[in-house]
Amino acid sequence: MFGLRSLTFTEEPPTPHHCCTTGSEYPTMNTTTLTQESAGSSLRTPMRVHRLTAALGAEVTGVDLGEVSRSDELFAELKALLLEHKVLFFRDQDITRAEHVALAERFGPLEDHPVAGSDPDHPGLVRIYKDRDNRPDDFENAFHCDATWRDAPPMGSVLRCVETPAVGGDTLWVNMALAYERLPEHVKEQIAGLRARHSIEATFGARMPVQQRLALKERFPDAEHPVVRTHPETGEKVLFVNAFTTHFTNFHTVENVRFGFDYAPGASELLNYLIRQAAVPEYQVRWRWTRNSFAIWDNRNTQHYAVQDYWPDVRKMERAGIVGEPTF
Ligand code: SIN
Repeated sequence: MFGLRSLTFTEEPPTPHHCCTTGSEYPTMNTTTLTQESAGSSLRTPMRVHRLTAALGAEVTGVDLGEVSRSDELFAELKALLLEHKVLFFRDQDITRAEHVALAERFGPLEDHPVAGSDPDHPGLVRIYKDRDNRPDDFENAFHCDATWRDAPPMGSVLRCVETPAVGGDTLWVNMALAYERLPEHVKEQIAGLRARHSIEATFGARMPVQQRLALKERFPDAEHPVVRTHPETGEKVLFVNAFTTHFTNFHTVENVRFGFDYAPGASELLNYLIRQAAVPEYQVRWRWTRNSFAIWDNRNTQHYAVQDYWPDVRKMERAGIVGEPTF
């Protein structure tokens, strides 16, 4: 899986300032080293992988993301690690914006965001800048997958911390394949064929004057996705409802609805129950940002939540979102 590199266990834990888990110390057996063995190529610092929780997430050390943006071999390793851990974290990556974009483009083309602005010199690099002029409930502080209001939601993102508040502003990620796996069997049966609507209008559009909101909806009509999607690369089943999901589109059947008034409460109670699964701590990892730390996540089987506990401090993030494919 890792080409010319071998996988070895190490006894050495990461340095304490890297610790940002929801749990305790890193177990040593969760630390792996990928050592380059190929004859003829120079030995790099070994890439080290430290799992952060039992659910998902790993911190990778001994790697320069600028180098990864230029190396097929390193990128292949990184991609394999991403599929394994769902979200990868890196610290002290003083790379250029062009390298940030180049790294993300290795996964696929990038997309801008219709509401958040992008860096004028680097299209696809969305600026998520917050200061005292932002409201404390500014959209990233809800569990969500990015842009599921698109028919083809993003495959993933590469996010950099440019400026961090003195304290706070962490981000949580959730393993939504695990959230699906742990659902009671009768719920899995009930949601097997269900589909749901995802809306930019009801979220980013909600504060706009009505004409502006309708124009936004015309550009981005609500998308419909299966409630349980299949990950196109790993084949995992993933619970795929989030803060952008407004309602089920095919709930109103004789199995679910005995009387008309069963419809709205029956559907919304089930949808709320499913959306709440992302808040289960056992499915999560929490990351404390420092300047020039990065997160790379798979948007197809995770959700995330940026904690808005730092207002009126400044927090500046730059995100390269990677175009995804239609869900199934
Ligand atoms: C996002 O929601 O994509 C951004 C997360 C963050 O700012 O931590």
